[in-house]
Amino acid sequence: MTTNGWHAGVSDGYKEKQYNRKCGYMAKSDKTVFFCKECGYESTKWLGQCPGCKEVGTFVEEPVGSSKKMMRRSLKNSEPVTINKVTARDEERVSTGFSELDRVLGGGVVPGGLILVGGDPGIGKSTLLLQVCRNMSNSDKRVLYISGEESLKQIKLRANRIGEFSDNLSLLAETSLDAIEAVVTESKPDVVVIDSIQTIFREDISSAPGSVSQVRESTNTLMQVAKGNTIPIFIVGHVTKEGVVAGPRVLEHMVDTVLYFEGDRHASYRILRGVKNRFGSTNEIGVFEMREDGLQQVLNPSEFMLTGRPLDASGSVVACLMEGTRPILVEIQALINHTAFGMPRRTAVGTDYNRVNLLMAVIEKRLGIQMGDYDAYVNVAGGMKINEPAMDLALIMALISSYKNRPITSDTIVFGEVGLAGEVRAVSQAEQRVIEAKKLGFQRCILPEVSVKSLKRTEGIELVGVSNIKQAGEQI
Ligand code: TYD
Ligand code: MG
Repeated sequence: MTTNGWHAGVSDGYKEKQYNRKCGYMAKSDKTVFFCKECGYESTKWLGQCPGCKEVGTFVEEPVGSSKKMMRRSLKNSEPVTINKVTARDEERVSTGFSELDRVLGGGVVPGGLILVGGDPGIGKSTLLLQVCRNMSNSDKRVLYISGEESLKQIKLRANRIGEFSDNLSLLAETSLDAIEAVVTESKPDVVVIDSIQTIFREDISSAPGSVSQVRESTNTLMQVAKGNTIPIFIVGHVTKEGVVAGPRVLEHMVDTVLYFEGDRHASYRILRGVKNRFGSTNEIGVFEMREDGLQQVLNPSEFMLTGRPLDASGSVVACLMEGTRPILVEIQALINHTAFGMPRRTAVGTDYNRVNLLMAVIEKRLGIQMGDYDAYVNVAGGMKINEPAMDLALIMALISSYKNRPITSDTIVFGEVGLAGEVRAVSQAEQRVIEAKKLGFQRCILPEVSVKSLKRTEGIELVGVSNIKQAGEQI
């Protein structure tokens, strides 16, 4: 199938069949199947709601592709080998030049790994990967950056903002997978970046680039190229809401590592989150800031999240959450106001709405504070999204502080899980949280009573153990 502009744009299954007929091109079989473009669920008939991911209206029709080409390929090592004879050492990992990214990857790039970087359009995926290319090519790796979206000139314009590049980086503007495969196996670079998978197509598959079957088959081929030549390959996948373009979730199960680049478009920082990793843990995050000259690592996110925090304002509490092995301090804000209408309004930004309602019910019942005719707004400053139970106590204290209009001293941090009886329960990794707070100059820490005993190395910060929310309320 060719990729002329018309076809790449209008690619719903019906028109595609008509087009194929007009051009005298017949698919290997004239049958079509329906795919969910969100999760790749396959069905012989159109469905309104996907049984796989429960999304509505995501089914698209596609011709049944041929997979003949797949058959002749196979991964190396088709003979069984005893496990102790297989050598794999961790030193083989290659640094990307960004410690934030290395940590999310589990210590660097593994040769032969296929890494999917997903994210909304415009979030900075191309920028991130171009910078990775720059770092790696500067440390004597031969890097090949393949773009199906932008011309070489456009890439160069972006590169000019980022800085100087070495001759180890080559660019290629190509969308045909066969051509890409030929170039990669011929030149054997040390790292390959493909931007983006939705623009790449295989000629022997009769659906348009970006369709579920194209994206899947292309990924499959890339997986074999990566494994066969032990070249790590990064692929970019756009998260799309409209159109028939398949989203990156369709290929999550095929690749080794799935990273999502998230962030508020209006805020300058971006979070790189591991969702799946065959070579490391998925709890880690990396924090970056988008600047004029590309992305900059944020090595101390707590400091970053707390800049501009109001001091001694009611309803503002600093909490400590854990992202993997890394403690991050965030500011939680609550605003409680007398409602002007019969129905009080409640909103929660950055945290779970139902959790806020639950905690408000606990406050009502256990402290006897009537919040029934008050509006409540909760916000996690800086645009972080938190859903750790250790945030409960901070949320409750922010709510009470705003209700009483009395501030909590700004040198205090709070963490602890709260149960329905109003009890404050232990949380994991209390010590790391306290140490992080100490590092940032906090003087006082309100935490679960039960956690206090287990803490060592905490001189220089006052620990206030509380066992229920009543005691916590007295600290305001
Ligand atoms: P891009 O990497 O093109 O996003 P994606 O590949 O995920 O679609 O990033 C685009 C945005 O980043 C764009 O809005 C401009 C901004 N940007 C900067 O702020 N500074 C820079 O140095 C660069 C290269 C981009
Ligand atoms: Mg891009």
